[in-house]
Amino acid sequence: MKSLVIGGSNSHHLAKRVASRLRLPYSELFADNFPDGELRIRFEEGLSKKRVIIVNSMMPNPNNSLIELVFAVNTAKELGAGRVVVVAPYLAYMRQDKRFHQGECVSARIMAKLLNSADQVIAVDPHLHRIKSLKEIFSTKAISITADPVLAQYIHKNHPESIIIGPDEESSQWARTIADSINHEAMILSKKRWSATKIRTIIHGDGKKFINRDVVIVDDIISTGHTMFDPIRQLKKFRAKRITCICVHGVFTLNALHVLRKLGVRVISTNTVQNSVAKIDVSPLIAKALSNTF
Ligand code: R5P
Repeated sequence: MKSLVIGGSNSHHLAKRVASRLRLPYSELFADNFPDGELRIRFEEGLSKKRVIIVNSMMPNPNNSLIELVFAVNTAKELGAGRVVVVAPYLAYMRQDKRFHQGECVSARIMAKLLNSADQVIAVDPHLHRIKSLKEIFSTKAISITADPVLAQYIHKNHPESIIIGPDEESSQWARTIADSINHEAMILSKKRWSATKIRTIIHGDGKKFINRDVVIVDDIISTGHTMFDPIRQLKKFRAKRITCICVHGVFTLNALHVLRKLGVRVISTNTVQNSVAKIDVSPLIAKALSNTF
């Protein structure tokens, strides 16, 4: 079956890279809005009997991006695609994985239902916490791949003597795994969160170990940045020499990037979400995952 890579609005750059790594043709999904705000999409290439790989990150504008994907998958099917694969470098709504307050929507489950019309979904480091595997929410084939290898490579090359910190227990799957893979020291902190912006972090053990050290804080998502702020302040008190925040998904809401820079730290993310610090490329991982399914 012939394959075609389609870049959705948020992921032209990454989709092009994936296509070029796989030596596949690439086309952009046309998307604009009617005057009333409704979305209009259009495929510019024939899709009949092809394996159509739609790459679109669900950040920024998670609601619009989800609708764009739902429309794209269903339209591709109507246009006779042989197989439709969704690559969501950032899969939104995964943090809304339980009914936190009475009457609330468990958005992760409903988001998955909306994408089940695809034949396959591939996501990079979806936020799996209470939901342990994408299989729990998707009825279609859903695969999660991790950016750990490219993050580890980056840290090993640019921060060879660093100590790696996970800012909360959930981040252990990135921070600890990466540290172990490159033989770096790691420390996982405890986090108490009262609201999106009210967070306290506990550093366990002796803070003296950070004196004059290169410290890399690793998490899956930086959104408001508040998960990073408290550890940064404490590490500065312990006179760490250099602090770098590295994440898979640079969501950066509420001016987070600006505030982090003002705190004097470097910030780096992968290109699952396109932004000015997206320096770590996940296209090799996506291309590999796709080629395993051909
Ligand atoms: C939650 O547990 C995630 O792993 C991140 O720590 C969190 O989403 C980061 O959000 P924020 O930057 O808003 O603190």
